[in-house]
Amino acid sequence: MAIRNLRYEGDEILSKRAKEIDKIDDRLKELAQDMMDTMHKFDGVGLAAPQVGILKRIIVIDLYEEGSQYILINPVIIKEKGEQLVDEGCLSFPNKFGKVKRPKEVVVEALNIEGKKVRIKAKDLLAQALSHEIDHLNGIVFVKKVEPGTLETVTPEARNEKK
Ligand code: CO
Repeated sequence: MAIRNLRYEGDEILSKRAKEIDKIDDRLKELAQDMMDTMHKFDGVGLAAPQVGILKRIIVIDLYEEGSQYILINPVIIKEKGEQLVDEGCLSFPNKFGKVKRPKEVVVEALNIEGKKVRIKAKDLLAQALSHEIDHLNGIVFVKKVEPGTLETVTPEARNEKK
């Protein structure tokens, strides 16, 4: 287990397009585990490889419910339906929060860590997380999509007190 260094706002890697993965080897498996550990350490629900400085198309998600952990390689949204206006943050922007429009439902195709093709039908928070993390792979960060006037800069502690 290893915690990787996160990349933060202003780091140009966050606006680059990540590359397709053509080989699932031990190094990639180690990266996936490290991403999971790093996400858990910072209480995130998702993390994309560019956020730890790796320009590869791999994301991890954990909604902290049974069966809600995902490691997805080369994920693609093949279908989107509806819209939800959601509060959002990002581990690469620790003090920023805002409202973003995300699809209400998505269907995603990807490979799992064994290289098997998987298809995920997601709605609500999982659809939001998939959309957010797949955006990262395309160099799109949530602050670019935030609804005008809703971006707040606040420490996570102050934000928790408000709730
Ligand atoms: Co993010």
